[in-house]
Order: sequence, then C-alpha cells, then structure tokens
Amino acid sequence: MTNLATPYRTHTCGALRAADAGSTVRLAGWVHRRRDMGHLIFIDLRDRHGITQVVIDADLAPAAHAVASRVRSEFVLSVDGEVAERLPGTHNPRLATGDVELHATGVTVLSEAKTPPFYINDPDAPVDEALRLTYRYLDIRRQPMTERLMLRSALVRAIRDVHHEHGFVEIETPNLIKSTPEGARDFIVPSRLQPGTVYALPQSPQQLKQLLMVAGIDRYFQIARCFRDEDLRGDRQPEFTQLDLEMSFVTEETVMEFVETMIVEVSRRVVPDRPIQQVPFPRFTYEEALERFGSDKPDLRFGLELVDLASALGAPAPSGFRVFDDVLAAGGRVRAVRGPGMGAISRHHMDELVELSKRWGAKGLAHVSVGEDGSLHSPIGKFLGEETLRSIADAAGAERGDLVLIVADSFETSSEVLGRLRLEIGSRLGLADPHVLAYCWVHRFPMYQWDEEFTRWDATHNPFSGTVPEDLHLLTTVSGDLAVRSPDDPAGTARALQYDVALNGWELGGGSIRIHRRDELERSFLLQGHTLEGMYEKFGGMLEAFDYGAPPHGGIALGVDRWTALFSDQTNIREVMAFPKTQSGSDLMLGAPSAPDTAQWSELGLRYVGPAKD
Ligand code: AMO
Ligand code: AMP
Repeated sequence: MTNLATPYRTHTCGALRAADAGSTVRLAGWVHRRRDMGHLIFIDLRDRHGITQVVIDADLAPAAHAVASRVRSEFVLSVDGEVAERLPGTHNPRLATGDVELHATGVTVLSEAKTPPFYINDPDAPVDEALRLTYRYLDIRRQPMTERLMLRSALVRAIRDVHHEHGFVEIETPNLIKSTPEGARDFIVPSRLQPGTVYALPQSPQQLKQLLMVAGIDRYFQIARCFRDEDLRGDRQPEFTQLDLEMSFVTEETVMEFVETMIVEVSRRVVPDRPIQQVPFPRFTYEEALERFGSDKPDLRFGLELVDLASALGAPAPSGFRVFDDVLAAGGRVRAVRGPGMGAISRHHMDELVELSKRWGAKGLAHVSVGEDGSLHSPIGKFLGEETLRSIADAAGAERGDLVLIVADSFETSSEVLGRLRLEIGSRLGLADPHVLAYCWVHRFPMYQWDEEFTRWDATHNPFSGTVPEDLHLLTTVSGDLAVRSPDDPAGTARALQYDVALNGWELGGGSIRIHRRDELERSFLLQGHTLEGMYEKFGGMLEAFDYGAPPHGGIALGVDRWTALFSDQTNIREVMAFPKTQSGSDLMLGAPSAPDTAQWSELGLRYVGPAKD
C-alpha cells in the first residue's frame, strides 16, 4: 500500500479497520457530517479515500469537545485519537471503515468553511449544473465526481502502460502551431514577438505525428489536448483529450489489430467487471453499417436491424401507395425498423414518433401494427392491401403485438431517420444492457463528400487519408482536370482507408492509413479545391518532409473524455472532465473567456472593432 502519511495524518480517512483497534492515529479531512448529542459529538471526517467516524466525548477530551462544538460542515480538521472497534449493533457496513471509530483526544481546525452552495454529503441531491461548474472544486469533493476523475486517471494510466508494453514512444507535440485542420474552426493565439501573426491551437496533432513517422519514431502515442472551435454538444467540448497514436510500416490490418488489442487490455484493466460483447470486434463497411443500423456508429447491444421493403412492396411493380412508388422510382429506398411489442402504441405516442422523424429529416413516417390476434392495421392499408401489409410485416420479422415503422426516402435520409428510430425504440424498451461494452469497427468510408458551396470534394475524415488501393483509379474528375470538379466525378465513389471505432453507439475514435507519397497527396489536395500554391502555404512543411523519405504509416485517435464517460455511464463528457466549459464555451469558475487587459491589447497590436458582421 502506498504510504500517504504526512505530518498532518498517519492514515487517510478510508484506511482504518478493526485490526487497527487500540492504535493511536492522526487523521485529516473535511467535516462531512456532524451530529451533536450534547455530551457526545460525532463527526464523519472525509477525504477522497473515505470517511471515518470520530467520537468526541466531553468527559474524556473536554478541549477537543469545545473545538468540535463550533465546527461546521466542510471545515478542515486534524484529529488525534485512539482507534476503537464500534459497539455491537453500531457497525456501518456501507463504510469501508465501518467497523471502527476514532475516539478523539485532540481536534485542530486547519481551515474554516462557509456554508457551501449545495450539499456535498448527499451525492443524489439535484444541483443546478451552472452552480456545480461555478463551484467545481466543491462539486469534485462530492463522491460521484471524485470517483469519475479517479476512473479517468486509471484509464490514462492503463493507456500509457499498454502502449509502453507494445513498444510505443510517448512524445509531446506543441500547442502553439500552425493550423492543422480537422474540420472545425481553429482557436488562434496572437504572437507578441511577431506582431500581426497568430498561432493556431491544434485541432489534433495530426501533421506533427505524421512528421514523427518521417522522423523514424515508428510507434508514437500521446495523451494530447486538442482544441476545436465548434458548436458544443453532450459529447463535444472545445478543449478535449485524445489518445493519439501513429505507427510506421503498417497496413489498415496492423493498426486495427493493435488498437483492438490495446482497447481490450485497457478495458480489462480499468473496468474488469464489464463484459466486452464480442472480440474480435465486429467489422462493418460504412455502407453495411448504414444499411443494417442506419448509423456509422451502431449500438450493437441490441438487434432490431433495418430491413428493406422493396421486394415486399413487389417493386418494380407499383405497390399502390404513390409516395413509396415515387421514392423507389427515383432511386430512393423504402426501409423499416421493428418495434417489438409496440403494436398497441397510442395515437399520441405515434404522433410523437412522426414528429421526431420529421425533425430528423423524414418527409413522413408510415406504420403497420400487428394485433395480438395477428390482424394487421395501417393508415396506408387502403392503398397497399392486406397481402402487401402481410409481406411488409413478414419482411420486418414482425410478430403479434409488434409495430413496423417505415420511411421512404434517399438512402442517406432513410438511414439517418431509421437509425435514430432504432435507438429511440431501444431506449424506450430498455433493450441495451448498460453494463456491456459493445465495441465495433466501421471502415471503408467514402474519401470525399461533395461541397456544393465551394464546388470541391471535402475529405470526410482528414485530408491526409489514403485511398483503398482498388479505388485509386477513381481519384479523377469527369472533366479530366482536377481543378474542374463536379458532383458526378468518379472521386465521389472512392473509399478511404479510414476506420472508426464505435462503442455503445458513440464514435470513440477515428483514424486512417495516410497518403505517404507526395504525388498522391497533391492529387488529393487538388480534388479538395486547393491550388498548388495554397497547398504550400498551408501544408508546405509537411509536403516538403515527404520529399525526404516518408514510411508508409497510419494511426488513430480515441476520445479519452468519451471513453471515460462510457466507462462511467455518463451521457455528457462534462461529467468526466475536471473543469469543463459550458454549452456557450464559458468557464464559470474562472470567468473565461474575458477581455484582455489594456496592456495586452497594445502589446499584441490588437483592437476590437465590434461584433463580427457578415
Ligand atoms: P477525429 O477528428 O475523428 O480524428 O477525432 C478523434 C476522436 O476525438 C474525439 N473528439 C472529441 N471529443 C470531445 N470533444 C470534441 N470536440 C471532440 N472531437 C473529437 C472523438 C473522436 O473520435 N487526427 C485524427 C485522428 C487520426 O486520423 O489519427 C482526428 O483527430 O472521440
Ligand atoms: P399522406 O398521403 O402524405 O397523408 O401520407 C400518408 C401516410 O404516409 C402518413 O402516415 C405519412 O406519414 C406517411 N408518409 C408520407 N411520406 C412518407 C415517407 N416519405 N416515408 C414514409 N411514410 C410516409
């Protein structure tokens, strides 16, 4: 056991056991709870290791009793005394120290405390989040936050251990750099020494880690702080942490294999009691993931795969329902998801699902329900007829009492809407075992997506991702000139050597095999709308490095905040960050962001000209 003794304490508040009875000890901690019975005062003394009950008897320790009479919650005390086994019937099985109590001989107040703005000793007390963030240091004193930060620490430690065991070198890359794009806006920092210029904070260490591969480092990792100026959500913060890694002389298979081994080892060390659903992790191509789950980060803890209804509708012959026939004729899809036991859904709940679907982009949501007697009901039954309804129910695997939800739309929209409906059903019916860790891979993403505004192909992942070898010949345009691009270019169908790892419906990480040849990289950049000059301006350092012998390489980055959140059953990564920002990017505790002081304005040659105007 680590020795945590200091001049203020011989033991932590979580250490004492029955075997310590009779010994003289000193504890230090916060007053968790105080009960004054007049002659006897009981104090639960707390530190992050636990709670020990202290008893102060007016007869045996009058001076200590006098001090204890005036302490209040959250005072910081040092207590001397003798450990005693608790009287029969007063043991507290909920405390690790519950077999003993400390009979105080001396109590010293190390620090007084104002009444805290919320209860620290009641982990279940609802507290306004703004208040928690303003007084984060008090929030962290509360057991659930303490435990999550300890879990996070254990996770980072396991990550480091496993990487070192596999021959990785931990290297820190700078935070004051030139823009390295990951699709968000940069945070910038003005330079004082070179007025009129700025550094960008890294959206990721992407270019630097690739340069480390050119430098021959071979296997690199880092617990890297990343900065992205984007709209915040539950799983996004402007400043967050990645486990970032890169490997040389590897294929997609090598990286996926290592990452999978690493994830399994880390999970087993950090949350040993949580079962991993399947090893090796299931792998889906991007197409397949959207086809079967309507998502590129499928939650595999339950089934309910999406089904296609074209043949049940008798396509290409008309089905009788115009909406479906039109969508199919236009190359769209009619697909469905089953709601087990939801056949008797109320009108009100059905309307809710329709509203949700529309919010997610659907034009409508049709349904067929199967009665307990096997009879079929559907608002579109009058168009489709009994036989087609039966085929739909069969195709969807619907049994008595089930509901079939149907969306007709493009592949993308029907995937999006049905994927979300699948999650909605899963959550309403409680289908996902919260204990299970269901990791999976999704790979073979499209290289590019068409950017209508700038008439260019935007990299779907990052601009350095390589192409699936069979698709290399597709990196062209219809015009033959890479500078004249259109949405019909073959480049739009090329697939990237890109892989994401998902966990329980969240994107946990993403990476790729990189382009390591300069001509290929230039080609890709041109498709992405850069001119050669612009490319040098932005990525000159990296392009030049590729002239000096770049090994084939690839890597990945996993969100450490997301991983911790998933390990501790949280839906918001704020819950696993010591000092996170609010939805609007504020630090309520320190009051950031704030205006620079006068000297900083002039030192940096800055002037505020009012809100940005379009
Ligand atoms: P990507 O942009 O996919 O890849 O990021 C990798 C992982 O980082 C986490 N993440 C975030 N977590 C919290 N808040 C955010 N704003 C945020 N943005 C991303 C996610 C995500 O899966 N350089 C590439 C990696 C590579 O190719 O090696 C990159 O950054 O968990
Ligand atoms: P309407 O004829 O537009 O009133 O639609 C009849 C039924 O079909 C309603 O239940 C609609 O919600 C549903 N519906 C309409 N458009 C679609 C669509 N694109 N996909 C699935 N159902 C639809």
